[in-house]
Amino acid sequence: MSDEHNGWYNKIFSAAYDPVMSVVEKNALSGRRQALLGNLTGRILELGCGTGINFEFYGKDAEVLALEPSDAMRAQAQQRIAQNTCAAKIRVEGWLLDDARLTAEFPVGSFDAVVCTLVLCTVPDPVAILSQLRKFLKKDGRLIALEHVRAKSDAGQWVQNLMNPLWRHMAEGCQLNRDTHANLEQAGFRAAKKEEFDFGLPFISGVYAPVQ
Ligand SMILES: C[S@@+](CC[C@H](N)C(=O)[O-])C[C@H]1O[C@@H](n2cnc3c(N)ncnc32)[C@H](O)[C@@H]1O
Repeated sequence: MSDEHNGWYNKIFSAAYDPVMSVVEKNALSGRRQALLGNLTGRILELGCGTGINFEFYGKDAEVLALEPSDAMRAQAQQRIAQNTCAAKIRVEGWLLDDARLTAEFPVGSFDAVVCTLVLCTVPDPVAILSQLRKFLKKDGRLIALEHVRAKSDAGQWVQNLMNPLWRHMAEGCQLNRDTHANLEQAGFRAAKKEEFDFGLPFISGVYAPVQ
């Protein structure tokens, strides 16, 4: 994979990721991951699985293809699978969405669900990525999102815009101020179920259907 996802700092970021996230996971995210992922069945595409934090939440009727371009993150995700604590059948690949190996094996309309958790803040062009993901979904498929998003208030946005350059640098391209609501809509998704909540940052947690 490219240096963009595999520089020296990425190794440090990957090693620190789970410990740094543990408080927010315990208090705000893991229950929501369980609620969003626990009932998914069929073929699932997970984008940017990181250390594989979602893997324990998938049920036994899920068959997951998880994509992760960082070698250091992917190694941790593979370790989780090796521990045999996951009920689902999970495969991890280092492919990006436009990798020909992905499209060769999984043509348009192959997946029952696509899963994006804390990744739409980081991908280079979220609307383009979401549009690609939409093509991989079956007609009645669903996109699952758990993401931190742009603040609603002017003051909140001001703080996010101020902190974004440093945050982006420290957090491997993650951007604080993305309007993920708008990006989902622009890419042709509508919310079938959505919760907004705050835990230090504003978040959304939802199930999205492709507009036909
Ligand atoms: C903040 S981590 C989130 C990990 C995990 N999804 C979670 O819920 O904790 C973002 C992940 O997205 C990955 N990533 C960055 N750019 C990507 C891209 N273009 N396609 C897929 N994954 C990407 C990063 O390597 C990183 O592991």
